[in-house]
Amino acid sequence: MNLPVAELHMHIEGSLEPELIFGLAERNAVPLPYADLDDLRSRYEFTDLQSFLDLYFANMQVLRTAQDFADLTRAYFARASAAGVAHVEFFFNPQAHINRGVPLTEVLDGIMDAVAGSEREFGLSSAAIAAILRDRPVSEAEEMFSEILRLQSPIIGLGLDSAERGNPPSLFEDVFARARAEGLHVVAHAGEEGPPEYIWQALDLLGAERIDHGVRALEDPALVERLVDEEIPLTVCPLSNVRLCVVDSLAEHPLRTMLDAGLVVTVNSDDPAYFGGYVDDNFAQLRDQLGLTDAEQDTLARNSIKASFATEARKAELL
Ligand code: HPA
Ligand code: ZN
Repeated sequence: MNLPVAELHMHIEGSLEPELIFGLAERNAVPLPYADLDDLRSRYEFTDLQSFLDLYFANMQVLRTAQDFADLTRAYFARASAAGVAHVEFFFNPQAHINRGVPLTEVLDGIMDAVAGSEREFGLSSAAIAAILRDRPVSEAEEMFSEILRLQSPIIGLGLDSAERGNPPSLFEDVFARARAEGLHVVAHAGEEGPPEYIWQALDLLGAERIDHGVRALEDPALVERLVDEEIPLTVCPLSNVRLCVVDSLAEHPLRTMLDAGLVVTVNSDDPAYFGGYVDDNFAQLRDQLGLTDAEQDTLARNSIKASFATEARKAELL
């Protein structure tokens, strides 16, 4: 890639590569239901978001200690840095770990240790966003967020992910209001499998500063106009959309339609260990299959820096 890129939509647990799954399973004596790497890899065929989430949550079982979370995060930073990523804002799912008995302090200590060293070790600035599991009870999200605040963890924002259909943003109005009152950034997955209405809700009820995915915004011209007028960034994940059957193929991906409509689009990997590649792979395949031009690629790269929550000084360095 020609210009520095910011990756704004990736789930750190979704960068858990098969080799690391086996390595951590051995280190932590966690039994795996897979015969070998090939057996595990043969399961990476998804029909929708839920079929992916089932494997994503199952494989997380190997993450136990702060060291595991630090190793996972550093492995992603190393790979992202090689992909040309200069700044990253990544999600993590605290409830997915708390609910299986892993103390939140282990998760935060490991992730934040890697974040603190990312510029020195990988030449990459980084920040973490705690993401709420929207298919779990609202009270659980409230408790998780209270615990993060109590621990004074240096997260930069609150996000919303997991199974979208039937779990509208409106459920989480109060916890997002608390996050904004705390001065945190707020973002939400919306319009991946869910309807445009969920994007309206994310904007109007949660105060989302960016929409994660948002590809279904195109079904609603008034919504597109709002997103364009307010320059709300959409963190689009092309390979993810193909793997989760949100679109039929990269050649048919609406990315160019979105750019041409004037939307502030960025390209991201979502869950790179599961969806066939990192940010550089997303760009390379968009070039091959959608005919993404150099000029479009540069626009996407600049959009990602501008849409980031990096300091103005850091943005100026990267633009
Ligand atoms: N969508 C919703 N939730 C997720 C995803 C995704 O693509 N990846 C990890 N959690
Ligand atoms: Zn995502």
